[in-house]
Amino acid sequence: MGDTLVPGPQTNKTALVTGANRGIGFAIARQLAELEITVLAGVRNDASAASATAAFGKIGVNVQPVILDVANVAALPSALKDIEQRHAPIDILVNNAAILIDGPGGFDASLFDMTDETFRLTWETNVLAPAAIIRTLLPGMIARGYGRVVNVSSLAGQLAGMGSGFPAYRISKTALNALTRIAAAEAGRGDVKVNACSPGWVRTGMGGPEASRLPEKGAETPVWLATLPLDGPTGGFFEDKKAVPW
Ligand SMILES: NC(=O)c1ccc[n+]([C@@H]2O[C@H](COP(=O)([O-])OP(=O)(O)OC[C@H]3O[C@@H](n4cnc5c(N)ncnc54)[C@H](OP(=O)(O)O)[C@@H]3O)[C@@H](O)[C@H]2O)c1
Repeated sequence: MGDTLVPGPQTNKTALVTGANRGIGFAIARQLAELEITVLAGVRNDASAASATAAFGKIGVNVQPVILDVANVAALPSALKDIEQRHAPIDILVNNAAILIDGPGGFDASLFDMTDETFRLTWETNVLAPAAIIRTLLPGMIARGYGRVVNVSSLAGQLAGMGSGFPAYRISKTALNALTRIAAAEAGRGDVKVNACSPGWVRTGMGGPEASRLPEKGAETPVWLATLPLDGPTGGFFEDKKAVPW
């Protein structure tokens, strides 16, 4: 292997990955940084920033943590403007942070067990937050003529295969898919692309220890969508870099 890195078309771009201190978000941030993209890793608080700095440092990857508690939806626009002022305009956004708190029983949780509180908290983090982040950052991307937005969704939100279990999470991901199509339509046909993806079943805090994939594999399709060329797709839903039904 040679030691010269050929700069990709994304060199000089700045990416924000939400929920990047662990799991799939961490792997996405790492892979984007390895492509010579400036990566801002959204983390919930100072403690997560410190542990993320240590974790990225340990693997020799240059990623800058930024505090972004996505559950604090009302504060997102000003927090994002502050981040852009302190760092750079965000060209690539990966809405990755999410929660799965359906219970009791987690994956088996029934609609009849779902509380309004679970639904509300899930909706805030998984839907209102990405919507607020897109509303704040997409206009700048459109004005600058370049943008990549990746919404990390799930086949759990796929209407084509909708079934029972963890209803608040499922509904939130269906809504995230709708948000993807609306934002893609509003962005138009230029070089601003908005897509959703499923990372597969991934061994993380959310996916659990039995999951079939490592975070590095789960990150591959989000990273592909985050670095699409000009002729790449927009307004789609992908798993393993292939379109899947909504
Ligand atoms: N794992 C799977 O099998 C699977 C399958 C389909 C889709 N997905 C999707 O993939 C994405 C990543 O999932 P994952 O498996 O990596 O989950 P995870 O291991 O539970 O990690 C979730 C990440 O989101 C962050 N987060 C949650 N609430 C936040 C908040 N209010 N502010 C800032 N960060 C917050 C967490 O930060 P803290 O450490 O501070 O909690 C953590 O970094 C999610 O969108 C998920 O729905 C995962």
